[in-house]
Amino acid sequence: MKILAIFFVILSPVIFTPALAGPFDKGNPKEGLETHQKQCADCHIGRFGGDGSKIYTRNDRRVKNPSALAQQVTTCNAMLGNNLFPEDELHLAAYLNGEFYKFK
Ligand code: HEC
Repeated sequence: MKILAIFFVILSPVIFTPALAGPFDKGNPKEGLETHQKQCADCHIGRFGGDGSKIYTRNDRRVKNPSALAQQVTTCNAMLGNNLFPEDELHLAAYLNGEFYKFK
């Protein structure tokens, strides 16, 4: 029985953490929103009109999982000449995931 208890202690963070934590929980969505309005929205609006959010809600949107979201934020940051720090990218991903993608 002791060995089972040891296994449980070791494995429980692995088993339970993903259910509790979202993929971008360390990011701050409020900061992400601010950065998004300043740096990201204009270009998306230029292509998709409205407030630009259609880029995230269209049926054939490209981002299908958390790592693709992180990757796309990095790609778009590169188009801005890498203006942003890695923590800004995390905040942006937290904002976009909370608002549009809702990955768990
Ligand atoms: C220079 C223009 C430009 C800027 C600036 C820009 N983007 Fe984009 N973004 C695009 C284009 C174009 C696409 C669509 C790519 C495609 O469909 O192939 C896109 C797509 C995306 C997507 C994927 C949407 C989907 O289909 O699911 C995300 C997420 C995204 N951008 C985030 C950002 C963030 C965050 C910023 C600010 C750091 C940003 N973008 C700045 C042009 C830009």
